[in-house]
Amino acid sequence: MILETERLSLRPLEVSDAEFLFPILNDPEVMAHWDIPEIDDPDLVRVIVESQVSDTVSGKSLHWAIQTLGGGRFLGACDLSDIDRWHKRAEVGFLLGRGAWGQGYALEAMRAVLSYAATLGLRRLAARTHLGNLRSDALLEKLGFEEEGLLRGHVLRDGEHRDCRLFGLLL
Ligand SMILES: CC(C)(COP(=O)(O)OP(=O)(O)OC[C@H]1O[C@@H](n2cnc3c(N)ncnc32)[C@H](O)[C@@H]1OP(=O)(O)O)[C@@H](O)C(=O)NCCC(=O)NCCS
Repeated sequence: MILETERLSLRPLEVSDAEFLFPILNDPEVMAHWDIPEIDDPDLVRVIVESQVSDTVSGKSLHWAIQTLGGGRFLGACDLSDIDRWHKRAEVGFLLGRGAWGQGYALEAMRAVLSYAATLGLRRLAARTHLGNLRSDALLEKLGFEEEGLLRGHVLRDGEHRDCRLFGLLL
């Protein structure tokens, strides 16, 4: 499903997007608060994107490429994952290349994703951020998510256990 906003087009992720995602997933600053460190191997990015595309085809998750409406510049990606149609819930995820930060693009894209999630009949959306991922926390709060708890030691990253904040939104 293609979603359009004032400035953006969100279209289903394709395997060929691995080429555009690689420099983003390779950037230590973008990946500072990710469950895994930055990725140096383009083939691994391709494997990840292939699995996201296959999950999108099977309906397990929905992954979108975020691009500018006019020029079709690739800015990043976002998703609804772990879609549970029985319980009517899913998780949200988002990332932008660093050059696209600070322009309200993530907010605009995720507003469209939230509206689309509502049309699917989803009732609850969840998100998880590493403690200190202030940009993501701010984005989630702007979208209306509320903090629901702290997951202590939830992620093992670079040999250290990190705490995560759990957010939820009822649609
Ligand atoms: C999380 C992430 C997508 C947020 O990006 P972002 O650009 O900060 O988010 P927003 O779209 O909400 O934009 C907000 C910024 O745009 C500015 N802005 C400019 N024009 C705007 C507009 N028209 N509308 C809203 N905000 C606007 C805001 O002032 C704010 O800037 P500031 O942070 O310098 O004050 C980005 O930081 C990222 O990709 N991080 C790495 C990946 C990651 O951690 N993902 C989440 C894992 S849980």
